[in-house]
Amino acid sequence: MNARIMDGSALAREMRTEWRLRAERLSRIGMRPGLAVVIVGENPASAIYVRNKARACDEIGIHSEIHAFPERAGQDEVVRRIDELNRNPAIHGILVQLPLPRHYASDAILAAIAMEKDVDGFHPCNVGALVLGSAALWPCTPHGVMRMLEKYGIPIEGRHAVVVGRSNIVGKPVALMLLQRGATVTICTSKTPDLAGHAQRADILVVAAGRARLITADMVKAGATVVDVGINRLPDGRLVGDVDFEEVREKAGHITPVPGGVGPMTITMLLCNTIEAAERAHAARTASVQRSSC
Ligand code: GUN
Repeated sequence: MNARIMDGSALAREMRTEWRLRAERLSRIGMRPGLAVVIVGENPASAIYVRNKARACDEIGIHSEIHAFPERAGQDEVVRRIDELNRNPAIHGILVQLPLPRHYASDAILAAIAMEKDVDGFHPCNVGALVLGSAALWPCTPHGVMRMLEKYGIPIEGRHAVVVGRSNIVGKPVALMLLQRGATVTICTSKTPDLAGHAQRADILVVAAGRARLITADMVKAGATVVDVGINRLPDGRLVGDVDFEEVREKAGHITPVPGGVGPMTITMLLCNTIEAAERAHAARTASVQRSSC
């Protein structure tokens, strides 16, 4: 069997065309969506991600601001800026680029973001809402994974999903989303004894372990859907995922490539969340004007 490739670049393009119209509609009524990205320190990968996010905002008609702090800035200074952004009506989404330098308490900083502006979905209350199945804004990468499964008509209810990776950014939230959609979910890590045995039982295998080519063809059930969230750079400079794509594509039913799979969907979902947060802010403002004129 040769797997059907799940093309994240094509889906991202399609979605951005649709969402650009929503951003334009908001701009026409004086509510241009706005995103603030907070970055602390000099992590070169983070700097690239942040620049890519700003460029993507520009292309779709979202106002974006980068708030960069040196590593020596104190946590209080960062939290004060988040407070200001919480009160700024031109900003509808706030994102703190992770990882933060070691001496910062990420939890406290993420908790400082106003819930309705938390376009990453990392605020503890939004995480709680995700557990309860009532989250307003979903974390971007797992949300992108779910959109890809939907686009390619992958059945979820009653299927066995295995997630490899337990990060707060991908593994845990994607497991909750799959559970919410009726899958039976197993969460593994790269160190799970008999990882192959678990992975072989997956109808849907989502891999976000950060280990190049961790998943080989012998670990995959024939016809399974394999979603690779990993991005690893090999010593020769090539980018590869956590799945051995060339081997596994011969056995899977559907598979995401790296690059061009989940990656382009992450920023797309951030754009969607920001536009959605702006639409909600507009609806809330309209409702409060109507109430005050009653
Ligand atoms: N670092 C790696 N992925 C992410 C993400 O989705 N959001 C944020 N804020 N930081 C990240």
